[in-house]
Parts: sequence; structure tokens; C-alpha cells
Amino acid sequence: MDRITLSVIKADVGGFVGHSSVYDELIEEAEDRLEAAVKDDLIVDFHVTACGDDLQLVMTHRKGVDSPEIHRLAWETFEACTDVARGLKLYGAGQDLLADAFAGNVKGMGPGVAEMEFTERPSEPVLIFMADKTSAGAWNLPLYRMFADPFNTAGLVISPAMHDGFRFEVHDVKENRRVFFDTPEELYDLLVFIGAPGRYMVKAVYTKKGEIAAVSSTQRLALIAGRYVGKDDPVCIVRSQGDFPAVGEVLEPFTMPHIVEGWMRGSHYGPLMPVPLYHATPSRFDGPPRVVCLGFQIAGGRLVGPRDMFDDPGFDEARRLCNVIADHFRRHGPFEPHRLPMEEMEYTTLPQVMERLAGRWEAIL
Ligand code: 13P
Ligand code: 13P
Ligand code: MG
Ligand code: MG
Repeated sequence: MDRITLSVIKADVGGFVGHSSVYDELIEEAEDRLEAAVKDDLIVDFHVTACGDDLQLVMTHRKGVDSPEIHRLAWETFEACTDVARGLKLYGAGQDLLADAFAGNVKGMGPGVAEMEFTERPSEPVLIFMADKTSAGAWNLPLYRMFADPFNTAGLVISPAMHDGFRFEVHDVKENRRVFFDTPEELYDLLVFIGAPGRYMVKAVYTKKGEIAAVSSTQRLALIAGRYVGKDDPVCIVRSQGDFPAVGEVLEPFTMPHIVEGWMRGSHYGPLMPVPLYHATPSRFDGPPRVVCLGFQIAGGRLVGPRDMFDDPGFDEARRLCNVIADHFRRHGPFEPHRLPMEEMEYTTLPQVMERLAGRWEAIL
């Protein structure tokens, strides 16, 4: 059976209005480019969408992960969309394209990437999560819940296919190193690290037999650029059913709006709100942070779908709770823990203000 690769590559190449959404003409430009790539037999199928101001390219192909051809296609698509954004004077045109020219792989160049290669099962349901106004570690808590928490995922207890647990690949994005943890055996060791999502990120989850279950984007824009240029706004792919959690088990963690970094100027904490695509337009204080989930069945590489998975009244209470939490956080104004701690603020525009005040400090005798 042929292997198929599912690639989700995203970038903010210009916002409409401000940082709140992607203008239709950018989506159309990206669709034209990817349609041409299907005709050229470079990719099998695609779906273009947006979460907030981030343009999302969902593609299937036979080239494997980290394919220079696929990454070039994504990069050139983002460049073309940036030209459209510049023409319309959209906000922050080309924001996430941190390099002048493509150099073989979009990793480290600004766009976020999540890719996995697998042999299609008789039925292959996948769920693609996309977030705006947040940072790459935002998937740590939900991935933990999906694959390691029996209070979330009943299958860990009652399904023979999942009872052995999973293997987590964790990246330390500051030291550029990785470690693997087996669950449930090493649950507590895993939590030592992934509870600090600014530095340690769940890159991937595998079954104990080594089958890929989930993969996330871990690109941190601030670490690439060395300064604040916008938030990472990460993506995550999760395979579902059979040896993996059921669709509802994969979605369940988002009923608890956990607190993530990335709201307003990338400098504030706020709750992550699960929304349908038509509500993925963060406007209140440029937020609160949003997550959408598109479901597909993959058939011979064809992306059958999408289904807009959070377009379900079952998530209404999570959204309501989110607004209550958002109100409470907002009342803290410029105070922590709404504002990020000082070491994270180093990657914002605050250091320039501090620089101006540097001479005002006097020694305390
Ligand atoms: P499987 O069909 O993947 O075993 O999952 C059962 C299910 O859908 C429970 O919600
Ligand atoms: P993005 O990272 O989504 O571009 O948002 C930036 C911002 O400043 C929002 O207030
Ligand atoms: Mg933006
Ligand atoms: Mg964004």
C-alpha cells in the first residue's frame, strides 16, 4: 500500500483587518497555486483555509516529510499571497516570511509546519487543529489529555488497541534537543517538562509499535527572529479511531479552555477558545486566542471534507467559560499574570522602552 504524506504549512502573510482574519483574495491566490501543483502531479490534493490572520495550506502528496519540492511550493505560495497582501496594503504583509529567499526547507524561515507520512488504513480519519494568537506549546496540554489521560480518553482503559499507551517525542526548543517518554510508565517524567510549554513541546506522539499518531508545529518565531515579529500560531495533526483516540476523545480536551500565551501583541495570557471557522476571527483585544479543528477522511490521498468539528453546541459552555475567564484576565490590564513574565517580554517591543529608561535607575544605598 502506498505511503501518503499529509503536510500542513501555515504563515501569516498579511491580516484583514489588522490581525483578525485572512482576506478572500489571499485564499484564492493560494488555491490557484495549489490547483496548478495538482495538475503538475506535485501534490495529490489540498485544502486552503485560515484561522485568524494565518493562511493554512493542507496538502497530501507522495514526497515524504521535509520534501524540498513541497516546502518550495508552500514558500512560493506564501510569497505570491504576500504580493497580493502588499497590493491591498493588508496589515503586516509578509509578516512570517523571515528569509529573503527559499533555502530548501521552510523550517527556521518563519512558516509553521506539521507533517506526517503513513500508510492509509481502511478508514483514515484525521483532525487538523489550527490556532491563532498563541504559541507553539499550546498543544502540550490537549495532546497529554488525548493520549495519556484516562479521564479524557476512555479508550486508554477500555480499548485493547490503546491499552498499552503511547510514546511522546518532546523537543527542547531552547537547546535544540529531544527526548522520548513512554506513557503511562513515565507520565510524571513527561509532565516535568511539558508543563513548561514555552520551552518543552510535544512534537509528536506514536503508538508503542511506532505508528505516527500526532504531530505539531514547534517553530518559535521569536527564537528564529531574535525579536517579536508576531506569534507562532501553531498547527497540529491527529489521526483518529482504531489504534488512536476516537474523534470525540481527540476533541474533548478543548472543553477546558486552558490558558495560553499570545493574546494582544503576543504579550498576554488568555484562554484558548474552540470555535467554528466562521468565528476564527479574533477581534476582542485581538483575541481571545482561537483554535479551530477541521476533520477529513483521507481516501487514496484525497482529502474528503472538511468537517468543521467545533461547529457543535457541545462546545458552547467552553466558549462561555472562555469569555468569563477572558473578562477576569482583562481586568488585570498590564499586570502579570495577564501580561507575560519579564523573560518572555524580552521578545516583545518592551525592551526598547526599558532602554529609554535605563539611565533613570539609581543605586539603593
Ligand atoms: P473505534 O471504532 O475506532 O474502535 O472507536 C469506537 C468509537 O468510535 C467510540 O466513540
Ligand atoms: P499575530 O501573531 O496573529 O499576527 O498577532 C499579532 C498581534 O500583535 C496581535 O495583537
Ligand atoms: Mg498578524
Ligand atoms: Mg496570527
